[in-house]
Amino acid sequence: MDRTRRSLLQAGALLPAGSAFGALAATAARQAPPRPIPVPTVAPEVLARDEVYWEAVASHFDITQDVNHLENGYWGAMGRETLAAYQRHTAEVNRGNAWYGRQAFPRQYLAVRQQVAQLLGVGEEEIALTRGATEALLALIGGYNRLAAGDQVLYADVDYDSMISAMQWLQQRRGVQVERIALPATPTREQILQAYDAAFARLPRLKLVLLTQVSHRHGLVLPVADIAERARARGIDVIVDAAHGFGQIDYRVPDLNADFVGINLHKWIGAPVGVGAMYVRQGRVKDLDPYMGQAEDGRITSRVHTGTVNFAAYLALPEAIALHQQIGAANKQARLRYLRERWTVPARQMAHLQVLSSPDPALASALASVRLRGRSSVADNMALQKRLLDAHQIFTTWRDGLDSGACVRVTPSVFTRPAQIDALVQALAALA
Ligand SMILES: Cc1ncc(COP(=O)(O)O)c(C=O)c1O
Repeated sequence: MDRTRRSLLQAGALLPAGSAFGALAATAARQAPPRPIPVPTVAPEVLARDEVYWEAVASHFDITQDVNHLENGYWGAMGRETLAAYQRHTAEVNRGNAWYGRQAFPRQYLAVRQQVAQLLGVGEEEIALTRGATEALLALIGGYNRLAAGDQVLYADVDYDSMISAMQWLQQRRGVQVERIALPATPTREQILQAYDAAFARLPRLKLVLLTQVSHRHGLVLPVADIAERARARGIDVIVDAAHGFGQIDYRVPDLNADFVGINLHKWIGAPVGVGAMYVRQGRVKDLDPYMGQAEDGRITSRVHTGTVNFAAYLALPEAIALHQQIGAANKQARLRYLRERWTVPARQMAHLQVLSSPDPALASALASVRLRGRSSVADNMALQKRLLDAHQIFTTWRDGLDSGACVRVTPSVFTRPAQIDALVQALAALA
């Protein structure tokens, strides 16, 4: 018996009869091998509830059943085909060694980059592949050279910790004044726009803003294109952290209306861990310094330096993109919305909970957070995350950094079954 099946049966056996996760484990134990994903014939919102379709999608992923896995925000599991391609390429790269790396890889890199550019809707020369969004964003923030001493830069509490550190470091690096705003815990679109408008009006020397498309803390989706337009009207540049956006929201990079974007392909596209991209709109490369003394060649590739990459991870991109496109971004977005609402709608009715996810679907993503009402310390939320795991076998993660306090983040994926979400709702109700 394989390990997964054994642990499933153990999980089922250890759980009280009739427990939601026990039933779930039993279902998963019967999971069939990968099935063809049918071509959808209905609108995404209808398809979102078609469990036959989503079971076919789920059959393409081999995901642990040791827990009710609702922490798919760290990175996105590869589909089985991507995993197989990654393993195959790892063996080939290892076998060919430097002969492969020096002879074959440069050509293959260009072919893969072309495919990624098409997916993102940008020119090939406008992107460089990176090892993740972090590498891309740190190169963008650190490299942006249109800042003079005394200028202002802006970030928000919803941004990602290491990008916040990089924005703060600009004070030492460029002599700028670093400004911060905090958004309400679940803001309306108007409140978000007003917060940025107010900051733009208050900061006369503001030159650069960091915008996180989907916050890793509670999944808030910013209206990036609108904020970027308002920024542009005042001569302010934006750097967009799209680590979580691309692949779970149906859009192409130019829709963000931004000239500098950092992207992950190992989250919602399902590439192997270690794949992201940096986008710089054509004509804007000169506004970034060559990376740490690289020779000036006017190309994006001199603005980030990855060193030797995981060749096989890049080479498995075509399979990851194929699965993403087969399901379709709009269908993924609709399914993830359905799964999010399946728990946030009932949880919002529970007086003992505070749900940190906008009821406005345009401002909400697969990631959404919750806390016990009035319990916003890190310790409270570490305890809540532990309780969900220990008492209910539900795996989530806690986050802090919002001005409104810490929370527990829940992130389903395209292979998450409604029964897993229902088990979460039961567990949340039991916290009363
Ligand atoms: C909003 C955001 N930005 C940046 C990152 C960094 O991504 P990575 O660690 O994959 O480079 C993350 C990772 O979770 C994130 O959530």
